[in-house]
Amino acid sequence: MKDKILTLLKAEQNLFISGEEISNKLKVSRASIWKYVQKLRDEGYTIEATTNKGYRLSSSPDLLTYEEIKDNLTTKYIGNKILHFDSIDSTNNKAKALALEGEIEGTVIIAEEQSCGRGRMGRVWFSTRGKGIFMSIIARPNISPERAGIITQITAAAVGKAIENFSLKPSIKWPNDIYINDKKVCGILTEMSCEFNEIHHLIIGIGLNVNQVKEDFTEELLSTATSMKIELKQDISRRGLIADILSNFESLYDEFILYGNSKTGIAYCRENSFLLGKNVSITKKGTSINVKCLDISGDGNLIVQYSDGKIENLFSGEVTLKNE
Ligand code: BTN
Repeated sequence: MKDKILTLLKAEQNLFISGEEISNKLKVSRASIWKYVQKLRDEGYTIEATTNKGYRLSSSPDLLTYEEIKDNLTTKYIGNKILHFDSIDSTNNKAKALALEGEIEGTVIIAEEQSCGRGRMGRVWFSTRGKGIFMSIIARPNISPERAGIITQITAAAVGKAIENFSLKPSIKWPNDIYINDKKVCGILTEMSCEFNEIHHLIIGIGLNVNQVKEDFTEELLSTATSMKIELKQDISRRGLIADILSNFESLYDEFILYGNSKTGIAYCRENSFLLGKNVSITKKGTSINVKCLDISGDGNLIVQYSDGKIENLFSGEVTLKNE
């Protein structure tokens, strides 16, 4: 009911709507309306109430609820259901638990804050309240598990394209990081539940630094991490950004899942790669090796050349890049 009242208030676009009209439309008592209005106010909505005119919504908080995102959302199924948490341990954990209970493809879990945000290799993902995007998408692609790496590349392309809309220049550090001006702005943690030749579900976790200021990062992090706001020097609407990411993701994901075509996503990652052409050190089975990064394959693998000239395709779970 709270969401329905909010929808009515929003539809009036800054005009008053009487308690009687809300009551008639939603078949709810005037006393209940008042109670829900209080709840909305507690969530940060500014709602004026006057005896003669009724209620008017004058401002909305920058919350990542379905109600706040839906107006910008143009997707068919990704984000049709958004579960929003004020605070949670990790959106990937929640998405995984829901996927195991049978949650459908396209459901998105978003949190304002994570108490145990997880990065790759057991690292912590700093999740400052209300400032970043911390979300996980549940996917159930009908592909073989070894092709799942493509989905991480597609996700990186989806986020990269959304960042570009702000005239920023993202570069993608294979397999799952996005950088701006040589500092990390986004990390992707794709987790898979599968059998030998079948994926049960994929959880695609995205952590994007949006409105953090320098003081939100530890001194150590500040040497390697940035936020869109730090780079752009202005606040960014997280809801519009999320809607863009989800819609970019859906079109690239559909292209791949429905037509087996990953060209657009992979081409984006190639063209905006942080690594291609560079010499880097990788760790493979515990040993450090210097390689030159040549290309990203159609399957989303990194093609490298060893100092003896040998060329190899590396898949994401196989190597870590030094200083990752
Ligand atoms: C990395 O760079 O190591 C990946 C970071 C991924 C962080 C995101 S935030 C939303 C989702 N929930 C998590 O616990 N982790 C991912």
